[in-house]
Amino acid sequence: MEITFLGHASLHIKIEEINLVVDPFISGNPKAEGIDLNSIEADYILVTHAHRDHILDIEAIVKNNPEAKLISNYEIIQWYDKKGIQGHPLNHGGKKNFDFGILKYVNAIHSSVFPDGSNGGNPGGFVISTTHDKTVYIAGDTALTMDMKLLPLMFDKIDLAILPIGDNFTMGYEDAALASDFVKCDKVLGYHYNTFPPITLNKEEVLNYFKNKGKELLLPKIGESIFI
Ligand code: NI
Ligand code: MN
Repeated sequence: MEITFLGHASLHIKIEEINLVVDPFISGNPKAEGIDLNSIEADYILVTHAHRDHILDIEAIVKNNPEAKLISNYEIIQWYDKKGIQGHPLNHGGKKNFDFGILKYVNAIHSSVFPDGSNGGNPGGFVISTTHDKTVYIAGDTALTMDMKLLPLMFDKIDLAILPIGDNFTMGYEDAALASDFVKCDKVLGYHYNTFPPITLNKEEVLNYFKNKGKELLLPKIGESIFI
């Protein structure tokens, strides 16, 4: 599995030959100007919640990838369905087998409303379990929550936890370190930081914090890929 950080909370995940995009927010992020939105390949677009910084480029990606299928909560899928964008709805606790693996929509503590005020359902995160036994938890925007302790009961092993670390709108890095304990995964990819002034952090400080706890924190540059 190849995971490319597209800035903020946006990811491109390649599983075999299948392309997943998560929470695309590129055109609105000056820090992601090195990413060519029009060259992003997508078979699926996973959306954690309806905030602008997670949905902004869905339509642009669908325009370039007309077969791409949106996967999100029921309310978000309904909202896009009215715009002619097809998707598959999940709701919390539900999982479905796709050609890239099993995808489960899990709890997040946050809010979810579209920029126009429409109801964006309840926010969530995803767990992807691939057919090659790799399991990745994408937390989405969330506070630290006891619900994270359920994940190790549901999945044998989580290989990578993708967690917000920027604080202010989501948990900060100290709580993200606790979240990594909760989900029993010491390999963390940090996201949702340094995009806007309120979520600015000092990378070195945060890397040391994780290192001192015996955890591996990955902070890929925008456009950089990691392989698991
Ligand atoms: Ni949000
Ligand atoms: Mn956000």
